[in-house]
Amino acid sequence: MPNPNAYNDQVVRLFLLASAIWGIVGMLVGMYAAAELAWPALNLDIPWLTFSRLRPAHTFGVIFAFGGSALMGTCYYVVQRTGYTRLALEKLATFTFWGWQLVCVLALVTMPLGITQSKEYAEPEWFIDILIAVVWVSFGAVFFATIARRRVRHIYVANWYYGAFIIAVALLHIVNNVAVPVSMFKSYPVYSGAVDAMVQWWYGHNAVAFFLTAGFLGMMYYFVPRQAQQPLWSYRFSIVNFWALISVYMWAGSHHLLYTALPDWVQSVGMAFSLILLMPSWGSAANGLFTFNGSWHRLRNDPAAKFMVIALVFYAAATLEGSMMAIKTVNSLSHYTDWTVAHVHSGSLGWVAMITIGSLYAMAPRALGRPAMYSHKAMELHFWLHLTGTLLYVIAMWTAGVTEGLMWRATNPDGSLTYPFIDSLLAIKPLYVLRWFGGVLIWLGMWVMAWNLWFTASDARRKIIKPSMVPVPEPEPNQHPVPLPVAS
Ligand code: HEM
Ligand code: HEM
Repeated sequence: MPNPNAYNDQVVRLFLLASAIWGIVGMLVGMYAAAELAWPALNLDIPWLTFSRLRPAHTFGVIFAFGGSALMGTCYYVVQRTGYTRLALEKLATFTFWGWQLVCVLALVTMPLGITQSKEYAEPEWFIDILIAVVWVSFGAVFFATIARRRVRHIYVANWYYGAFIIAVALLHIVNNVAVPVSMFKSYPVYSGAVDAMVQWWYGHNAVAFFLTAGFLGMMYYFVPRQAQQPLWSYRFSIVNFWALISVYMWAGSHHLLYTALPDWVQSVGMAFSLILLMPSWGSAANGLFTFNGSWHRLRNDPAAKFMVIALVFYAAATLEGSMMAIKTVNSLSHYTDWTVAHVHSGSLGWVAMITIGSLYAMAPRALGRPAMYSHKAMELHFWLHLTGTLLYVIAMWTAGVTEGLMWRATNPDGSLTYPFIDSLLAIKPLYVLRWFGGVLIWLGMWVMAWNLWFTASDARRKIIKPSMVPVPEPEPNQHPVPLPVAS
């Protein structure tokens, strides 16, 4: 019989474990895809090993399996702590865990087999989409039911971001995937032509906005003050940024379709909103960084805090870069080149993966009832492996992207192209090798984390601690409306 006065960390621990495993799997696929771009013979003429099939498996594996599991696990952890209550609808919560894992396995098996809708970041076929919708609505039910039974009046800002992430992802997923199935493994979208492109990039961009940004900002708003051991720099600013972010992001999607068949004014709206978007993005980054004011010394000995601070720096850098890339003249150079891939990975490896890893290191000992992670040195090692790998990856791809863009647009006085396409590939080959090497470092770092988590968990088992019994503290009667999330 579950103890109603203790947090339910069982499901949190399951998601934590899943996230660590999917991180290794998803990044292994990314590493192999990177190796294929440097040494194409590595596809070994096996259809399921070709780049075109591995790439969506990589993006699904890292975004939805690794990132998704971390988001759901931390969300369940945070909503209980900030609401001073145990998770509601616990059986449904357990269902969301197994349901989501099934989604990930199905997606990662069907994609290499070539079973796909061919919609970027929405590749799984209709029967997986239905399962995603069911799991997601259940996830929302657990989250909002827990919010409803909270024992403090105020809803802490991290929950606003998690809530927006849950609602928006449900909306995006359902609208973008309306399709007519013609067989078990094939369906056709109800949209066509430019409308299809528009809906797809409304989805694609807002998947970045709400999955890769709002959800992880929820994580940041809880774990950064926790790790800095002081309240947010400005609570009011976090609310202003919330409303600004969610109202602006929805309009920026057409920056993915500049110079296409989309009406010109729609492209300009996307560009304008992308520039405005820089303000709430930097607002959150600044709020997170300033929260460390007065406790910067903690960074010396706290690898989790280091991960968080560098994540915020990358968040600021990637959003500045994104706003610049949305300017049509800049996009005419960057589009189709590896500059986009550099931007993606400064956002995903720099921001998403680092805030996730920092938060997992902060959360794992508490969810496992241990005073600290098993090995401090291993966390330090992971930090340096991840940072070095990410910098190698991103710098290599920036250089490759600008090289490609400049070589493709260079013309001779008679108007002919200066370089044949193959020359641009030869020029960037060393950079592809460097990117692959960066990926290897990052992947090794993920193994170090898995090893460390494993021993933290076995330590917890050996000491016969029952971590699911962490008691829910009593909120004080006149508690400040903003709970300072430092209590376990
Ligand atoms: C070991 C680490 C990683 C390696 C080696 C890696 C490698 C790659 C490669 C080779 C591609 C294909 C690029 C192309 O189409 O030219 C790619 C694409 C992508 N990766 Fe990763 N990746 C890693 C980690 C991640 C993580 C953690 C995320 C997200 C959380 C991520 C998200 C993406 C996305 C969204 C794309 C599509 C980019 C685009 O088409 O513009 N990657 N990655
Ligand atoms: C102010 C915030 C941001 C803006 C204005 C922005 C803008 C852009 C632009 C203009 C592109 C290139 C489109 C193209 O030429 O095809 C792009 C691509 C992309 N961005 Fe961002 N970005 C922002 C933040 C982020 C963040 C934080 C992440 C990741 C965590 C991210 C992930 C991506 C991905 C995955 C793509 C590639 C989409 C594809 O597959 O083509 N962006 N972004």
